[in-house]
Amino acid sequence: MPAKINLALKVGPARADGFHPLATVYHAVSLYDEVHAAWANPDEFEVVVSGEGADQVPLDDGNLALRAARLLARTHGPHDSLGVTLTIKKSIPVAGGLAGGSSDGAAALLACAMLWDIDIAPEALRGLAGELGSDVPFALLGGTAVGSGRGEEVVPALAKGTYHWVLAFGHQGLSTPAVYRHFDELNPHARQPEIPAELMNALRTGSAHQLGVTLDNDLQPAALDLQPRLGQVLEAGMEYGALGAMVSGSGPTCAFLVDSEPAAVDLSIALSADGLCRAVRRATGPVPGARVVG
Ligand code: C5P
Repeated sequence: MPAKINLALKVGPARADGFHPLATVYHAVSLYDEVHAAWANPDEFEVVVSGEGADQVPLDDGNLALRAARLLARTHGPHDSLGVTLTIKKSIPVAGGLAGGSSDGAAALLACAMLWDIDIAPEALRGLAGELGSDVPFALLGGTAVGSGRGEEVVPALAKGTYHWVLAFGHQGLSTPAVYRHFDELNPHARQPEIPAELMNALRTGSAHQLGVTLDNDLQPAALDLQPRLGQVLEAGMEYGALGAMVSGSGPTCAFLVDSEPAAVDLSIALSADGLCRAVRRATGPVPGARVVG
C-alpha cells in the first residue's frame, strides 16, 4: 500500500457537513505499508501494528483498517461468522499528511475480501472506501488522479513520466481536522476550488521542472502556522537544489521534487545532515494503488 502526496490541493469553503470541497491531484509514491489478514474466531476483529510510529496507531475503532474489516463484514458477509487478525507493518508515518491510515484502510478492504472470499464489484468496493475516508478511494486506485467532492471522487489523470521525490518527516504529527479548521480561520472567503491548468499541463508533458513550480497546496499556510519549523525545512530543501517543495496534504511531511535519482540521494543527505526533520526518505511516483501480494 503506497503513500500519497497531493501535487495540488485546492480547498473551498466548509460544506454543511463540515467537510471541504476539494480539487486535488493525488500522486501515489513508493513508500509502503503492508497489511496482512488472517482468520480469527467469529466476530473477533483485532489489529497488531509494528514499524514506523506504531505506538501512535490506535488499536480500537479509531483504526481505519479495523473499521474497513468490520464495514466489509457488515455489508457484504455473513458477518457473525467472520473474524480477522490484521497485521500492519508501517513505513508511512502516522499523522504525516501521506494518507498512511487511508492506505491501511484500503489494504484491509482488499485483504479481507480475499481472505473471506467475498466477491465484491470494484464499484461497491470504491463506495465502501469512500465511506471510510476521503482519501481511501484513491488509495485503491493509485497512480496520479484528480480528486473532487471531499476527495473521494477520483479519476485517473493524464500524466507522463516518473518523478523523484524526497520526503522529510516531521518531529510531531499534525491533526488533519485542526489544519482544516485553521484553514477556515485564514480563509474566511475561500472560493470554490479548481485544478490548476498549469499543473495538468506539466503532468501531460512529463516535465519535472514545470511540475516543480506548479505544486500548489492551499493547506500549506495553515500547516506552517501550526508548525513554523516546516518553513525552514521547505527553504532548506530549495536551497539544496529541489525543483519544488511543499507540505504534503495537511502535513507535516514536506515533499521535495528533484530531477533524478542521484539528485534525490544528494538532497536526502543534505536534509538529514542539517537535523531539521526527524527522518528523510526517497520515493518515486506514480506507483499503482493497493495490491494483493502472496
Ligand atoms: O475523510 P477523512 O476521515 O479522512 O477526514 C478527516 C478530517 O479531515 C475530517 O473530519 C475533516 O475535519 C477534515 N476534512 C475536511 N474536508 C475534506 C477532507 C477532510 O474538512 N475534504
